[in-house]
Amino acid sequence: MSTPGNAANPAELTETTEDKRPKFGNRFLTDDNDVFKHNAWDNVEWDEEQEKEALAAVTKNSTQKMNAEDKEKFQNDADKFWDSFYGVHQNRFFKDRHWLFTEFTELAAPHAAEDQKPRSIFELGCGVGNTILPILKYSNEPQLKVYGCDFSERAIEILKTSKDYDTKRCEVFVMDATLDEWSVPFAEGSLDIIVLIFVLSAIEPTKMSRVAGSCFRYLRPGGLLLFRDYGRYDMAQLRFKSGKCLEDNFYVRGDGTLVYFFTQEEVRDLFCKAGFVEEQSVVDRRLQVNRGRMLKMYRVWIQTKMRKPITETINQ
Ligand SMILES: C[S@@+](CC[C@H](N)C(=O)[O-])C[C@H]1O[C@@H](n2cnc3c(N)ncnc32)[C@H](O)[C@@H]1O
Repeated sequence: MSTPGNAANPAELTETTEDKRPKFGNRFLTDDNDVFKHNAWDNVEWDEEQEKEALAAVTKNSTQKMNAEDKEKFQNDADKFWDSFYGVHQNRFFKDRHWLFTEFTELAAPHAAEDQKPRSIFELGCGVGNTILPILKYSNEPQLKVYGCDFSERAIEILKTSKDYDTKRCEVFVMDATLDEWSVPFAEGSLDIIVLIFVLSAIEPTKMSRVAGSCFRYLRPGGLLLFRDYGRYDMAQLRFKSGKCLEDNFYVRGDGTLVYFFTQEEVRDLFCKAGFVEEQSVVDRRLQVNRGRMLKMYRVWIQTKMRKPITETINQ
């Protein structure tokens, strides 16, 4: 299997069984001598020295930017590189992400006693269904409607052949989420939830605000956007070799797929400028440990929940 930084590593996308945990901050490392006693530690603090080392690694791998021609190729053919990725990996990295329903409780089916108004959920960049399939599997809502799009035709084909794909409650389709106008089977202002899990990082930074704006338009007033993605100085960013950087914090992996590493502020800015109000923003810093090889791997993810206000504020 390729190492992080060289390929869209399935292990990066699925995280690990250690992630099947009851929310952030479950296991703390209080004594450095204990570090190899478990596979992962939550909410690890970074000291100044570590931040400096991370900055030095990023400066080193990003000072030399990719030439314009290569950059254009990777950006213009991004869907084809993802097609090849899914051609190789199929849905083998599919794992039931239990953290989905603990971090994003909103995705779980409401209790019977709660308002059973039919819910609609849309996932952008749904891939082979690592989020959509568990939602369908664990929801008993007959009227639930789950939509998903991905610009990789291969991913959508694979998802549609899954045994848990339920055509009554789910509709997935090929679409580039960065288009000005989405061609979608639902109306503007209609969706309850939009999910962006490890997808915005695959999109060119200059197109991200357009995607945020489209999400805002299609959510109903009071609707919720759920976001989880790579954070700045994640291990995968530090491991890139020179020559792989398209622009600051935006890289191409060995398999041609693109990845951006966000700060919490960038994510906040992006969605708040589109009109959202932030309900949650967490930097999930985890130390993953390879006990066999005595390796320490510092992971950083950003998790955010953004609400579309019930009444839109008009900027004076
Ligand atoms: C890192 S994968 C994550 C897939 C899925 N969300 C998951 O968590 O397993 C990124 C996905 O985003 C899709 N993607 C990237 N850019 C896209 C775009 N502009 N429009 C639609 N899908 C896109 C890729 O094809 C890929 O399936």
